[in-house]
Amino acid sequence: MAKKKNEAIRVDFNNVTAAAVGKKDGISPAEIKAFEKRAAACHKKCVAERKSGEIGFYDLPYQKALVNDIKGTVRELKDRFENFVVLGIGGSALGNIALQAALNHPFYNLLDRKERRGYPRIFVMDNVDPAYFAGLLDVIDPKKTLFNLISKSGGTAEPMSQYMVVREILRRKLGKKAPGHIIATTDREKGLLREIVGREGFESFVIPDNVGGRFSVMTPVGLLSAAMGGIDIEELLAGAAAMDKRCSRPDLKKNPAYLNAVVHYIADTKKGKVMSVMMPYSNALYLVADWYRQLWAESLGKKCDVRGKVVHAGQTPVKALGATDQHSQMQLYTEGPNDKIFTLVAVRKFPREVKIPKTYKKYDALEYLGGKTMNMLIEAERIGSTLALTAARRPNLTVTLPEITPHAVGQMLQMYEIQTAFAGKLYGINPFDQPGVEAGKIAAFTLMGRKGYAKKRRGVLSRIKKNARYIL
Ligand code: PA5
Repeated sequence: MAKKKNEAIRVDFNNVTAAAVGKKDGISPAEIKAFEKRAAACHKKCVAERKSGEIGFYDLPYQKALVNDIKGTVRELKDRFENFVVLGIGGSALGNIALQAALNHPFYNLLDRKERRGYPRIFVMDNVDPAYFAGLLDVIDPKKTLFNLISKSGGTAEPMSQYMVVREILRRKLGKKAPGHIIATTDREKGLLREIVGREGFESFVIPDNVGGRFSVMTPVGLLSAAMGGIDIEELLAGAAAMDKRCSRPDLKKNPAYLNAVVHYIADTKKGKVMSVMMPYSNALYLVADWYRQLWAESLGKKCDVRGKVVHAGQTPVKALGATDQHSQMQLYTEGPNDKIFTLVAVRKFPREVKIPKTYKKYDALEYLGGKTMNMLIEAERIGSTLALTAARRPNLTVTLPEITPHAVGQMLQMYEIQTAFAGKLYGINPFDQPGVEAGKIAAFTLMGRKGYAKKRRGVLSRIKKNARYIL
């Protein structure tokens, strides 16, 4: 049978233009044109970082050997385990969650093994909420579970504490067989987890040194759990490669990632759109919006630019779900402060069709629905939202996936990673670091009594002291 041709995802910028939403809130062709030179310069910098090997995510779509390696591991292990549990946080979890939600059955873990085509159930534990974690332990049998501990730095408190709990249980229940229930994904050489891997004899995968957490979904971080859930990772990477090619030139008229970065940058810095809402009209893609939220926030939210000047850059990403949030957020979106740019995500062909029966013919308020499909309804709602937002002069663009396939999702993820790296250049900040999360970590280490943090303890405790007058 001939292989189906994979279509490109499309980004429709019509409703961010001044022609659609007015000069004050929309962007004119001249405003985009004024960025051409700067875009070319930013492109040069991105290409240089890629070529020098400093930044590695661009090349992740082309890892044939890794794909074979992961597929081999999945073949070997999938039948032995009922559950596959990821222990990770931030960039070591959000991509995994997004891929499962986008590309597997919405109630995948509730399907029986045959319906899951023989693949294990997939859980991604990205928090240390004790009730949540203990709850997982209630519903899985550790003897039938393979854990994938993911940490690039190899010392993050949340996944490492989860690991310590799990290790103890496995040792108690399985003795010498315990290490066979853990696969670690971490740096090739650096970090405590790599040392533990050597000591405990775990199987392991490598996160390339030049790929940061939130850009790592197409490393073993995201690919192993995806493949363990039966997702076609070759197609995912093929989609990412197709997008990489589409985004290889600086021409803003042809490069959707660059144009989207420029549009968001202008919206933020010149039109007061300090928030970027991503609203998929698809439950499957809702958690892709969650992945985007981290990517955009942690990459661009920076106090200083690359020269050290205080700039407080960044646009606040927000996730919303269509049509659900039309009954929750849309009132604010159309009539509240005009401080947002919207990305609606559309799906041209859903994997399923649900027909609405022709009942209640006597009621005008219901008769019109009969004989239609939910597919038609959600599409009408999405179009309705673009019209409402545009009429209210709220700039909005639409990303359309032809279908929710690994190829299309691969395109989307790669587009947003390229867009984010490029936006970093426009803002003049480093999108690949996260100095702002350090303060919270240090305080937590201090409070948990980590060695070497004793001196900071008094300072941290004094800052925690509260004035009882302000607590009701
Ligand atoms: O994007 C990032 O770099 C972060 O969100 C990290 O992924 C997160 O802090 C987890 O780090 P690590 O993988 O080192 O445990």
